[in-house]
Amino acid sequence: MNMIRILLLSLLFSLASLVEAASLVLPQFDKNVHLGVASCAASMCHGSLIQREGSDVLQNEYIIWSNSDTHAQAYQSLLTATAVKIADNLGIADAGQADICLDCHSDNVKQELQGDKFQLSDGIGCEACHGGGQHYISSHTDGTINRKQHLQNGLFPTDQPQSRAQLCLSCHLGNNDKYAGHDIMGAGHPRLAFELDTFGVLQPLHYVVDDDYKAQKWSGDHYITWVYGQLQASRAMLTLIINKLSKDNSLFPELALFDCHSCHHSMDKLSWTRSKGQGFKPGTVRLNDGNFKMLIAIASGTKMVKPLQQHLTAIGNAVHDKQQLTGAIAKARLDIDHLQSLIEHQPMAQRQRHARHVLQTILEMGSDGAFADYIAAEQTTMAIDLLFEVIEKKAEFSTEISELFDLVYNENNYQAIAFREKISEINNRLN
Ligand code: HEC
Ligand code: HEC
Ligand code: HEC
Ligand code: HEC
Repeated sequence: MNMIRILLLSLLFSLASLVEAASLVLPQFDKNVHLGVASCAASMCHGSLIQREGSDVLQNEYIIWSNSDTHAQAYQSLLTATAVKIADNLGIADAGQADICLDCHSDNVKQELQGDKFQLSDGIGCEACHGGGQHYISSHTDGTINRKQHLQNGLFPTDQPQSRAQLCLSCHLGNNDKYAGHDIMGAGHPRLAFELDTFGVLQPLHYVVDDDYKAQKWSGDHYITWVYGQLQASRAMLTLIINKLSKDNSLFPELALFDCHSCHHSMDKLSWTRSKGQGFKPGTVRLNDGNFKMLIAIASGTKMVKPLQQHLTAIGNAVHDKQQLTGAIAKARLDIDHLQSLIEHQPMAQRQRHARHVLQTILEMGSDGAFADYIAAEQTTMAIDLLFEVIEKKAEFSTEISELFDLVYNENNYQAIAFREKISEINNRLN
């Protein structure tokens, strides 16, 4: 590719990121005072002990959050023996006071935006997801104000799948403002894994999608939520690669962007297996491409599959060449936007058929050995689980699905061949 095209594409890429950045400010960086969980927890507001009859919302959100949502414990996790060890390894005196930890384990807003009842020790409170309450606290219960005005008053659009994905991924994958890099992993932090739909289900539900909800907010099934999650995770990953690999000049770039297991595996049982369609040589350090693989499956059956496959493969192969890497990323960014708009314009009936086709493609890719890397297998398992639910065959395949979960339960025992065989068995039985 000639230089001018690379420049043009990079320019387009940075413009796209600018538009994205300008249109969405995450709660941690909004300009509103965060009043603190106690401000939401009054019994007539969200602190009711039980769900309230005749109300549009449950009103017991606080109890659900504080009793069963791990986000409420996220700050306390910075005080455990594990956290003390991580901090010590990194030379941090107190994880409970270090921004690098607080940014993902609490609602770490600037001091001047912390209201009277605000406490960092409340962990990931309501406003860490819903935005600082200063301007919506008194108006958000006013039925005469429409949703657009609530959002203008500072409520974060948690219902919109793309912004929700950006919100969750900011902590569950990281972004340019906060990242749990290989230094933090090496110090003992758990590896981060995320999938929007699965984690949305795992988070104890504090809202009900009923008719009243649907009239005001975005709602969608497991399939479309998963699609948005994959689109956004891939974008976030590309942005991290641009910032931490292309622009980085150190001898060892950010290792946490690569598949952990491409370096961390024992050498007594050599397990290198060619991942189909990538053309890597043995010994290549592979990017963490679990989301990219899902994206290729999502694009299957559309005209975007070829360009995406080509550009994502080019990214994987270009980790040694920054110029090539930047060019390939710019192209993949545009492919992803294009794919999103194709899917958004699919009529409902076609979307249903497409979901089934995507499941079939994943099973075929898996039978062919495309998910030899652990992280791809982990994403695949979550996808298969939710896609079987979408085609209403989860009960019929429940044994096989739980066997898949068993195979990825412990990343240190992951066997690529056993995983491939199980997928192939499922594939044969579905057809
Ligand atoms: C401010 C950072 C932050 C945001 C935003 C965030 N999370 Fe989390 N999440 C965390 C942290 C930190 C933990 C671990 C808490 C602990 O155990 O200490 C966690 C834990 C979880 C868990 C439990 C995981 C497990 O292994 O048990 C789920 C599920 C989850 N988050 C889902 C979500 C979803 C869905 C969203 C978006 C709607 C989201 N999170 C937004 C930081 C965040
Ligand atoms: C980019 C966001 C991010 C940063 C930065 C980060 N964490 Fe975490 N941390 C998480 C998430 C998300 C989880 C939950 C992982 C899961 O279960 O999926 C977690 C989990 C943990 C856990 C395990 C909690 C449990 O009980 O399972 C500990 C301990 C921890 N983090 C400590 C730290 C410390 C100490 C720092 C600062 C050096 C730090 N974290 C920085 C996002 C982050
Ligand atoms: C980790 C992120 C996260 C945290 C923390 C969180 N929420 Fe939510 N909340 C969501 C998401 C995602 C939704 C669903 C999308 C939506 O309705 O906007 C939601 C929905 C809601 C709804 C909408 C219900 C409806 O029917 O419209 C209310 C009310 C709510 N949350 C209150 C709270 C309160 C109060 C707290 C704190 C005690 C809290 N949330 C903490 C993410 C979060
Ligand atoms: C390019 C190779 C490479 C990749 C990819 C990589 N690491 Fe590492 N890792 C190393 C090296 C080299 C060390 C330092 C030598 C050592 O301690 O074994 C290390 C050290 C560690 C340690 C400390 C090991 C110990 O002995 O206590 C942990 C934990 C760790 N890495 C986790 C991860 C996680 C999690 C990922 C993926 C997010 C990852 N690594 C990706 C090469 C890599």
